[in-house]
Amino acid sequence: MTQPEKMELTSMDVAAQKRQELKQALGNAFPEVFAEGSIDFDQLKRVLGEWVDPSKERFGLNWAGKAECMRVIQQPSVAALKPMRDHSINFDETDNLFIEGDNLEVLKLLQKAYFGKVKAIFIDPPYNTGNEFIYPDKYSETIETYLNYTSQTDDGGRKFSTNTEISGRYHSRWLSMMYPRLYLAKNLLREDGVIFIAIDDHEIDNLRKLCTEIYGEDNLVAHIIWQHSVQPKGYTDIFSIHHNHILCFRKSEDFSVSPLERTDKDNKAYSNPDNDPRGLWRTGDVRNALYRPNLIYEIVSPSGHVIQPPENGWRWSKSTMQEKISSGEVRFSVDGTKISRRIYLNEQDGRAPETIWFGEDVGTTREASNEIKSLFDGKAPFDTVKPIKLMERAFQIAGLKKGDICLDFFAGSGSTAHAVLNMERSANFIVVQLPEQISDATPHGKLALEMGFSSISDISRERIKRVVQKMQNQNEGKLSLSAPSDVRLGFRSFRLDRSNFSIWNQSADTFEQSGTQLDLHVDHVTADASPEDILYELLLKAGFPLTTKVQSIQIANKNVFSVHDGAMLICLESEITAELIDALAEANPLQVICLDEGFKGNDQLKANAVQTFKARAQADESEIVFRTV
Ligand SMILES: C[S@@+](CC[C@H](N)C(=O)[O-])C[C@H]1O[C@@H](n2cnc3c(N)ncnc32)[C@H](O)[C@@H]1O
Repeated sequence: MTQPEKMELTSMDVAAQKRQELKQALGNAFPEVFAEGSIDFDQLKRVLGEWVDPSKERFGLNWAGKAECMRVIQQPSVAALKPMRDHSINFDETDNLFIEGDNLEVLKLLQKAYFGKVKAIFIDPPYNTGNEFIYPDKYSETIETYLNYTSQTDDGGRKFSTNTEISGRYHSRWLSMMYPRLYLAKNLLREDGVIFIAIDDHEIDNLRKLCTEIYGEDNLVAHIIWQHSVQPKGYTDIFSIHHNHILCFRKSEDFSVSPLERTDKDNKAYSNPDNDPRGLWRTGDVRNALYRPNLIYEIVSPSGHVIQPPENGWRWSKSTMQEKISSGEVRFSVDGTKISRRIYLNEQDGRAPETIWFGEDVGTTREASNEIKSLFDGKAPFDTVKPIKLMERAFQIAGLKKGDICLDFFAGSGSTAHAVLNMERSANFIVVQLPEQISDATPHGKLALEMGFSSISDISRERIKRVVQKMQNQNEGKLSLSAPSDVRLGFRSFRLDRSNFSIWNQSADTFEQSGTQLDLHVDHVTADASPEDILYELLLKAGFPLTTKVQSIQIANKNVFSVHDGAMLICLESEITAELIDALAEANPLQVICLDEGFKGNDQLKANAVQTFKARAQADESEIVFRTV
């Protein structure tokens, strides 16, 4: 190879990644299925002894537009996330991210760098109750659609409308919006990761079926009911709805539920009236909840009484029961006709979370409204706010630890970010919010406009900013020793925008038709692109998180970004010299990226650069990936 590799500026090819995973998992057992670089699914079925009938009907959730969803998922993003230092706090220190943009495009852009890295997701998507859900009329969700929607470009003939019940395909549109997002979000979860999705009665049935399809029915952890309000609504002729649903799905069986901390209320039932040396205890059940024929056996008490098994059988096998009788955990009544079990308090590690979450424990919508009001001088500029204790409960169950990433890609007013900051676990958040224009059609919208906000992302950023400032003020008041030093309070703001390379900024249609685009020289950095804009585009697309440590250094008198302590060197200089190439190779990086235009069409210089990096890598028995962009 005499020319450097071209750097791919598209987001991860999700389908290719999945094909690769499938091949890795099944390739050895079924080599005939993976012939000539493609997967023969009919052959797989045949190998497994199934009759292949192409017209066979399938059980599952179907809607108009479902097939299109796969195409949407597979269409890579050519957009970029641009840093917004002015809208950030502690940009260089913090590992928290606020991203303004359409979450579909953003989720695509996050695939390379955050694949399998997110521990917990909490989302509260539009519930499809009427006007709150906006959708492009022509089915095309791309960066161009987004820029049109956010009025950053001319309309171009594309129309948007709210999804109302009379608009036809009402549920279908909602499902088509959710499917690609949930699919891409699953990729971001760690194997021991978990997603919580809040929803109301409108779409719970569809959502549960959708998640079962995407995550697998074995991965449903819980269908939770959250009591969102306590006060009666003032009418008597219909049911007063006091709950929402929260679906919890895990990525795989590697996830386990973390128990909740016990409270005095949980411990109330324990006592020790007979001075049991094992401490406080309460009576527990010895019967099985499910019918277990193998656990149906008689027990003979020391006084010779034969105790008949309960209808479903005992809780344990005969031998385990015997051990528990010997240890005193299972005891006979004085007359020897019954047995009971003692559950000891000091053997309880915590409390299993329940599937009903009461407002008094996890907050109500009224409490959520008060939380946002307390940050905005008694005013609530947003109405569908969730109480932070609700997300805290979810993240406790997820077992969040220091450095874990939590994601919310329907951020709204930023409650998830608030909850993560509030928890003393030093986890990090990534939240994504559309710059949805605020309308004066609702009292909250009117108020938000009066308060000077024009979009919902403005509100969320401002809320997180105020939470951070409040915590910083509280920390200042403490002795420095007691302040949590590892909480890097703040957040880095980014916004979704076009690529910094003009060749990628064609419409999606043109891009698709022209396979040759990838082979063209990319020598058109857009006029308004700053070095930092380009840096973050390259960082993310090379698979580095947006919070990777970056230093600006000088090499051979040229400006170079050193990424992750020199693992990757990015040089955006418009004139590349042989000296610079030698010095870059000498620095021993794993990857080097330079602007194509820096070579000024000098193919010889480029070929020499390839050889220089190759020679250096051979000498060190390593590999240096050298790419231009
Ligand atoms: C129900 S609200 C979330 C409220 C949030 N949990 C809170 O406590 O404030 C849903 C949010 O998703 C946002 N949203 C809708 N479509 C989006 C998209 N495509 N990308 C990013 N955000 C979107 C809406 O603007 C809205 O703010």
